[in-house]
Amino acid sequence: MLILSVESSCDETAVALVRDGRQVLTDCIASQVPLHRIYGGVVPEIASRKHIEAIYGLAEQALEKANVSRAEIDAVAVTYAPGLIGALLVGVNFAKAAAMALNVPLIPVHHIRGHIAANYIAYPDLEPPFLCLVVSGGHTMLVDVKDYTDMEILGSTRDDAAGECFDKVARVLGMPYPGGAALDKAARSGDENRYPMPHTKLSGNPLDMSFSGLKTAAVNLIHNTRQKGGEVEVADLCASFSRAVSEMLLPRTETALEQTGRHVLAVAGGVAANSRIRADLDRLCKKRNVRLCMPPLSLCGDNAAMIGAQGYYEFLAGNLADQTLNAYATKSMEGETL
Ligand code: KG4
Ligand code: ZN
Repeated sequence: MLILSVESSCDETAVALVRDGRQVLTDCIASQVPLHRIYGGVVPEIASRKHIEAIYGLAEQALEKANVSRAEIDAVAVTYAPGLIGALLVGVNFAKAAAMALNVPLIPVHHIRGHIAANYIAYPDLEPPFLCLVVSGGHTMLVDVKDYTDMEILGSTRDDAAGECFDKVARVLGMPYPGGAALDKAARSGDENRYPMPHTKLSGNPLDMSFSGLKTAAVNLIHNTRQKGGEVEVADLCASFSRAVSEMLLPRTETALEQTGRHVLAVAGGVAANSRIRADLDRLCKKRNVRLCMPPLSLCGDNAAMIGAQGYYEFLAGNLADQTLNAYATKSMEGETL
């Protein structure tokens, strides 16, 4: 089954062609990151306009690159939630028009389910059940993937997402948006013991996380040092901060593995590119004899191939939409699709 998939939830317009959920024929991405950089973050209005400009050309490009004709497309999958509403609507409307013109089914895909499905592309033998640590710019959660379309959120951040905090601290340090990768690079030569970071204690669900206290502590440290005429040691601060983020994620991931008894841990989302988190997860999984699945960096960030992968399984589960499909800025990835 050949799926044309579309992703436009944030600042990347992407169109891919994916066969049977696992084989990516092509994944065309137009990133708007340089455009938003001068504002220090994504400007929703600009994002929507750029998606409109890019989407048709990308779809044409995808077909050309894969040497596929329109008649060969069996279904159209699209990210319909969550994300920037104006940005999502561009992809949803394009997908609705394409599905109608091609007379094929329309498959709505939740963005986070898509991130998880990036693992099916990277690991062709991977099948549920498994535990997934989702760490993106907008979401941080531990998900029990019981089946391809049956998932349970075991714990999630109570405030900011891990990626948001990486980006905020990087921004205060003067790194260009999105600064997570630059902060990670700087951290590699730093002393992680130089700046002790707070360890937020949370009551209630032991698998929930919190990052805003950590972010505020790092930002205050930078500002206070500057107010005294100094400057923090950038590499040391980045290393200390990365360590603290990892120390929020790792024990909870271990508890979730224990609690679920899963033998596979998959990682999803842009922050999964972080070298400190990757190294720590690697160590944890070796210690517990758990298989660790970490997709390549190209599949960790936003892309349309992951939407085509999850779209296939949503199709098999009968989760289809009609021309009344809407987009949603927020929506849980558990339960019913629509
Ligand atoms: O999953 P994603 O592409 O977008 C969302 O759906 O949110 O994730 C983007 C996030 C950004 O916050 C970016 O700074 C972060 O992933 N990121 C990193 C690294 N590479 C990307 N954060 C920390 N270390 C990295 N190496
Ligand atoms: Zn994403």
